Amino acid sequence: MTKIIAVLNHKGGVGKTTTAINLAAALQQKKKRVLLIDMDGQANLTESCGLSIEEERTVYGAMRGEYPLPLVRLENGLTLVPSCLDLSAAESELINEPGRELILKGLIAKALDTCKFDYILIDCPPSLGLLTLNALTASDYLVIPVQAQFLAMRGMAKITNVVGIVKERLNPELNIGGIVITQFDRRKTLNKSVSEIISESFCDKVFKTVIRDNVALAEAPIKGKNIFEYNKNCNGAKDYMSLAQEVLKLK
Ligand SMILES: Nc1ncnc2c1ncn2[C@@H]1O[C@H](COP(=O)(O)OP(=O)(O)OP(=O)(O)O)[C@@H](O)[C@H]1O
Ligand SMILES: [Mg+2]
Repeated sequence: MTKIIAVLNHKGGVGKTTTAINLAAALQQKKKRVLLIDMDGQANLTESCGLSIEEERTVYGAMRGEYPLPLVRLENGLTLVPSCLDLSAAESELINEPGRELILKGLIAKALDTCKFDYILIDCPPSLGLLTLNALTASDYLVIPVQAQFLAMRGMAKITNVVGIVKERLNPELNIGGIVITQFDRRKTLNKSVSEIISESFCDKVFKTVIRDNVALAEAPIKGKNIFEYNKNCNGAKDYMSLAQEVLKLK
């Protein structure tokens, strides 16, 4: 059975794309077949995988019904559905489409008729709009990256609320896989105290793995590489491998 995971937080810059690409790569190291879907009109995941933001076929055309999900096999063995800068327009273009929240779910189901994956990871945009709703409707689990910073908790109530509504109306299978604290610097007292608050508030929903602040994680995408291709011995690689081990245990 394919497990579909949306990496979501409407707050920007919290590490969604970094988590999507490197968790996917870590699961691949564990011999899992992994598909990445870039659902963000910034196309950061697409570029981080070494592709151009001007790929001919993208999730945008597929969402518009022009062709099936384009599955691009990367040299490193991962498969990617690329995005493009036009994708943001889909939010308004599809607004009157019947079943507009179900489009991605349908596209994934069709893709799975011919290709087998153990995991599908969806990189969401920093919003709770139609593209994110499509990701939530298609997913079994959410992974929510959170930075251990002041106000980080503010957005959590909003996410929990949207997840509740999606679960009730669109996708009863949806569950929070876990919150993952990212860009953690243990030298910063504030980082420590905020991460304690997050752990206390969402105890059983917080992954034990904390993703440390690690410059290699910021450098790798510039080279179009994931962290295991860039530097498999760095803390970033160790942390994402540890996160993958927890994700593999999700029921
Ligand atoms: N653990 C980390 N250590 C160091 N840098 C990191 C780490 N995680 C992410 N970054 C860097 O922080 C920036 C934001 O990360 P990322 O793009 O993954 O966030 P995002 O949530 O996807 O952003 P957006 O909301 O714009 O899509 C990037 O430059 C990334 O390289
Ligand atoms: Mg991103």
